[in-house]
Amino acid sequence: MSKTATLEIDGKKYEFPLIVGTENEVAIDIKTLRTATGGVTTIDPGYKNTGSCESAITFLNGEEGILRYRGYSIEELAEKADFLEVAFLLIFGELPTKEELEKFHADIKAQSVVDDDIKKILDAFPKTAHPMGVLSSLTSALTAFNPSSVNVDSEEDMYKSVVKILGKFPVLVAWTMRKKQGLPLDYGDNSLGYVENILKMMFKKPNEEYTQNPILVNALDKLLILHADHEQNCSTSTVRIVGSAHTGLFASISSGISALWGPLHGGANQAVLEMLSGIEADGGDTKKYMAKAKDKSDAFRLMGFGHRVYKNFDPRAKIIKVAADEVLGDLGVEDPILDIAKGLEKEALEDKYFVDRKLYPNVDFYSGIIYRAMGIPTDMFTVMFALGRLPGWIAQWREMRLRKEPIGRPRQVYIGENSRTFKDIKNR
Ligand code: CMC
Repeated sequence: MSKTATLEIDGKKYEFPLIVGTENEVAIDIKTLRTATGGVTTIDPGYKNTGSCESAITFLNGEEGILRYRGYSIEELAEKADFLEVAFLLIFGELPTKEELEKFHADIKAQSVVDDDIKKILDAFPKTAHPMGVLSSLTSALTAFNPSSVNVDSEEDMYKSVVKILGKFPVLVAWTMRKKQGLPLDYGDNSLGYVENILKMMFKKPNEEYTQNPILVNALDKLLILHADHEQNCSTSTVRIVGSAHTGLFASISSGISALWGPLHGGANQAVLEMLSGIEADGGDTKKYMAKAKDKSDAFRLMGFGHRVYKNFDPRAKIIKVAADEVLGDLGVEDPILDIAKGLEKEALEDKYFVDRKLYPNVDFYSGIIYRAMGIPTDMFTVMFALGRLPGWIAQWREMRLRKEPIGRPRQVYIGENSRTFKDIKNR
C-alpha cells in the first residue's frame, strides 16, 4: 500500500502521510493540512470519519463485531476475568498479577469513604432529581474535597487519583439510589469483593441482613465488564476533550457522565424500558411500534436497536443476551415487559427495514432487562452504565495526558452573515 494520500485542490497537489494501526486500520494524517493549503479544513459532523487520537486501549471492528480491551477479546474477559481485573487491565495496560490485584483492591478500599459533607449536597437535591444529574454533580463535588490537582508526571500521584475515584464512585452511585428511596446513606463492607460490595451498598435495608445472590453478583460483574470501555464514543471523547484542557480527572469524568446521560448514548437503556412499558400500556401491539419506527414522518425510534459502529451484531449484546436468559431463568422472573422485548427483537431481526440498515439489538436492549430483574429502578440504569464505564474513562483520560495530547479544539466552516454595520435600536 502507498505510504501517502494525495489531495488536489485547484490543480495543486498535496501529499499527506498514511498512518497504519496495529490492526491495519488506515488513517490519513492531516495534521499539516491547514498550514500546507493556506487554511483549508475538513468537515465531518458527528466525526463519522475522523480519528481524534491514536489509542492503545480498545480495539473495535464494527463490521466484524469485534471488541477487545488491550488485545483481549470481550468474550474471554467476560467469561474469565472479574471487573476489577478488567479495570486494572484497561487503566495500566496489562492483566494484574495476584499481588498487584490484591494491592489495587486494598488501595481502592482505603479510599472508599467520602467526606460526610457530600451528604449535605445530596440532601439539597429533590427526590425527583434524575440520578444522572445527581451523580454528575456529586462527582464534580468530589473535587472540592480533593482540591490538589494531579501531577500527571508522577505515576504515584496518578495512581492515587485512580484508586480514589474507583473507591468513592460506587458510594456516590449507591447513595444516589438510596436517597431517592429514602434509605439511610450507609457504607458497604470492605471485606467483600468490589462488585459484591456495590450490591450491598445499593440494596441493604436498615433492618435486615443483606444476603448476596451469586447469580446477581455474576451478572453485574459481566455487565460492568461489557460496559467498561468502547473507544472514542460520545462520553469518552468528552472526558478526553475536557481533560485535554488539563481539567482534573474527577471533573472530566463528571462531564462524561453528562454526555452518557443522553438517550442516544447511555440513556438508551432507560429509554428501552420506558419504550417497552409504553408499548405494554398501549395494549402490547409490537407491530404498531415496528411500523412507527420505520415511518420517516414519525420521530419514534426503536430504542436499543442500531449502533454507530456495529453494523453487524454488537458482540456485547450476544454475551448479555445469554446472561439475561440466565438471570431471568434463575430468578424465575415472569414479566410481560420481557415478552414484549422478545417479540420486538424477533420481528426486528426478520424485518427488511432493520436488516437492510443493519440495525441489530445493542447492549442497551438487554442490559435494562437484567437491571429490572435485579430490582434496580429504571432511572438508575444509566448510572449503572456509568459505573461500568468508569475504568474506561480513567484509562482514556490517563492515556491522553501521558501522550501529552494538545487541547481539543475543532475547526468549523462559518455559514453566517458577512460583516455588517451595527444598526441603532431605533432603526431596526
Ligand atoms: N429505529 C429505527 N430506525 C433507525 C434506528 C432505530 N433505532 N437506528 C437507526 N435507524 C435508521 C435511521 O433512521 C437511518 O435510516 P435512513 O438511512 O433511512 O435515513 C438509518 O437507520 C441509519 O441511522 P443513523 O441515525 O444515521 O445511524 P447513526 O449511526 O447516526 O446512529 C444510533 C446510531 C445508535 C444513534 C441510532 O441507531 C439510534 O438512535 N438507536 C436508538 C438509540 C440507542 O439504542 N442507542 C444506544 C447505542 S448503544 C450504547 C452506546 O454505545 O452508547
